[in-house]
Formats: sequence, C-alpha cells, structure tokens
Amino acid sequence: ASRIEGPAGGELAIGGVGVTALAEQYGTPLHIMDEDGLRRQIRRFIDGLRERWPNSEVLFASKSLPAVGMYRIAQEEGLAVDIAGGGELVLALAAGVAPERLHFHGNAKTDDELRMALDAGIGTIIVDNEDELDRLERLLERPQKLLLRVIPGVEAETHASQATGGDKSKFGLPMDQAGRAIARMQAHPLMEFEGVHLHIGSQILNTRQFAQAVENISTVGTFPVYDVGGGLGVQYTYDEPAPSVDEYLDAIVAAAREHLPADAKLMIEPGRSVVARAGVTLYRVVSVKRTGDVFVAIDGGLADQMDIALTAQRYEALLADRIDEPWTESVQLVGRQCESGDLFIDGAPLPEARVGDLVVMPATGAYAYTLSNNYNGALKPAIVFVRDGASRLVTRRETYDDLLATHAPAIESSPTAS
Ligand code: LLP
Repeated sequence: ASRIEGPAGGELAIGGVGVTALAEQYGTPLHIMDEDGLRRQIRRFIDGLRERWPNSEVLFASKSLPAVGMYRIAQEEGLAVDIAGGGELVLALAAGVAPERLHFHGNAKTDDELRMALDAGIGTIIVDNEDELDRLERLLERPQKLLLRVIPGVEAETHASQATGGDKSKFGLPMDQAGRAIARMQAHPLMEFEGVHLHIGSQILNTRQFAQAVENISTVGTFPVYDVGGGLGVQYTYDEPAPSVDEYLDAIVAAAREHLPADAKLMIEPGRSVVARAGVTLYRVVSVKRTGDVFVAIDGGLADQMDIALTAQRYEALLADRIDEPWTESVQLVGRQCESGDLFIDGAPLPEARVGDLVVMPATGAYAYTLSNNYNGALKPAIVFVRDGASRLVTRRETYDDLLATHAPAIESSPTAS
C-alpha cells in the first residue's frame, strides 16, 4: 500500500509524505496508515461481497486496529463493526458508529459489558455459551438480536494460537450442543435468534478451509443469517504470498451457493486483511553493534510489536531514508525490550545501517497497535493517517504522565509526596 517516491533522494514516502518529516513531526516508533490504500481495501471487501451475494454485510473486526480514527473510517465506508469487549464498545461509540451496526463478540462477556451494550442499543450479540444466555435472561428488557457462535470443526492451518475452529476451541459451542442453546433462544420472548456464527482463526492462507467451514456450519440448520467470521491471511514477506480478497470471496460464496439457503444473509468479519498492508511502522536506529553478528537495534520492540513473539510472525524491513542503496549485509534487527526474543528479523538484508537511520517495517497495520503495551515502561506509539501529501494524527503517543496517571493513588498516599 505504501508508495515509493524516488529515485531522487532515496527516501520512502507514504501517502505522499516523506518518512523523515513524519519522524520529525510525530517521533518514533510511529504507526503510519495509508488512508487511500485502506479505503480501497475496504471497498474490495464490501463491493466484492455485494456483487457475489447481494444480501450481505462486511463487519470490520475492530480488534485489529481499535483506534477511534479507524472506527470513523469504517463507519464512513459502510462497514459494520465487530467489537469484543467494553473498551472497543466505548471507542466505537465515541467514533460515532451507529450502535445498531455493532456486533458484540467474546467468550466471557461480563454483566457490566452486556449491560453497557444493551443500554447503547447494540445491533447483535454473538452468544458464546449457555452461561451468557443465563446472563441475558436476567438483563434483557427489550427484544435483542442474537447469533450463536458454533465450532465448525475446521483445524485451521496457521499458528496454534490463531486457530479457533477446531474441536478444542474455547470459543463457541460444538455443533452437537448448538441445538439446545438455539431452542432456549427461540423459546425466549425477548431473544430474536437470527442464525449462527463461526470463526476458524487468523492469518489463514488456504481458502479451501473457509469453504469447508461454510459447508460444515450449514449442517446446524436453516437460518436467516450466517456470519462466517474473518481470518484471511495477508502477505508479510516476499516468500509467502497470500490469496487476494477476490479469491477469498470466490471460495466462501461458492460454498454458500452450494450449502446455504439462497435467501440467507451472509456476513464476514475481516480484520487483519483490511488493515495490515495499509500500515507500516517507522522506527529509528539507536545502535549498530558489530560483534560476530551485526546487531541493528531500533527504538521499538515487543512493546509495540508483540507478534514477533506471540505468533512468531516474520516481517521485512527497509532503511527508509536510503531505499536507493543496495543491500550489503544481513543483520539481526533487534528491539529494545529486555528479552532475547525481542528480535524483529533474523537476517535482514540492509544497506550498512547507521545510528539515526529510519527503518520501515511494512504490513504492520493489524494487531501491532492493538497488542502494544508498557513493557520496560515503553509508551504506546502514535498512529497517523497519511493521504495526498498530508498527515493527520488520529491517536497520540502516550506520555510519561499517562504512564504515571494509573499509579496516582500510590503516589498520593506516599509518605514522601508533599
Ligand atoms: N472475528 C472474530 C470472532 C475474531 O476473533 C477475529 C480475530 C476476527 C473476526 C478477525 O480475524 P482476522 O480477519 O483479523 O484474522 N493476536 C493475533 C490475532 C488474533 C486474532 C483474533 N481474532 C495476532 O496478532 O496475530
């Protein structure tokens, strides 16, 4: 999604804005989203699904980039929104997403969260288990649309922590237990049971697995709505291509034509494949150490990119201020957190790096900001959107005051504080 300006200057530009200016204005590490690329990708999903299956809806799995600026774009482009917790609900509402376009997921929703969602007028709740039905029986005061999450029995070919469709999944009910939960919902005067939901996992590159899940879930019964989840994988590295949005939609819609009722509503909820490749992260080189290896250390790490450890996700990197220079060495591109697993790339081909160089890591628009944390007191990075040569800040960088704020009770009660 990022565009390379050049060859003059050898500096990378994204959305028409040079990375040097972005680093100076906003600091690093910095999440940069190419807004045009992002909006184009959203339309590929919405238009592509509508062309193939008119009675359809695309939900944005907002856990992949839960930023108010992103919820706004989702709303503007006509995406419905999947939320999975009170925090995402608050952010979506603050962005102005219509409550009826929100779909609430989660395997352990609390009374407080359910109450917040019901008070807001949430569109659909995706029920995970029968305890959640007990809670809803207590809390419901008005009719409420519900889907039931079922386990479709598809063991997704992806990292184990990203597979959610197999028999050992903690999410949803096995298909043979779905009938009882569905009967409970159908019998309740305020529960409007609409259909079933599945999600087999994330970063899935084999589209036949999505088709298999659609086929399997069709055996649960005939309903007005089928939400077949997200999970389409994206290309992170040169050597591992991913299916296109069209290939993905072809696969699921072919399975839907064969196995689902023709008048059913078909929903999908992509996250990663909407935002990942519209985003890059910008870092600055802090030190270059030549021992047996060449260690190029940048000013980020596990605090802003958990995926390098959580799912062992591989990335590429480039020296963004000198993209015209040839690769001359293979380096250990490392971060600054206190773990040896804080390694971005084992053997990154780069020109000879110098302190102060800018490093760009492409395809980091999904789950990086989501999973960012305060490890070693790190401050969560800012997010900027770039477009037509201009940038706008949508999420500011945390400050040391933000970091201290949650500890205020301890500071105030300290005997040494004033
Ligand atoms: N729907 C449900 C119910 C989900 O749980 C998820 C992702 C999605 C949709 C969107 O899936 P996507 O299209 O983004 O693959 N921590 C991991 C990612 C976990 C994904 C969680 N659920 C990572 O950083 O790789």
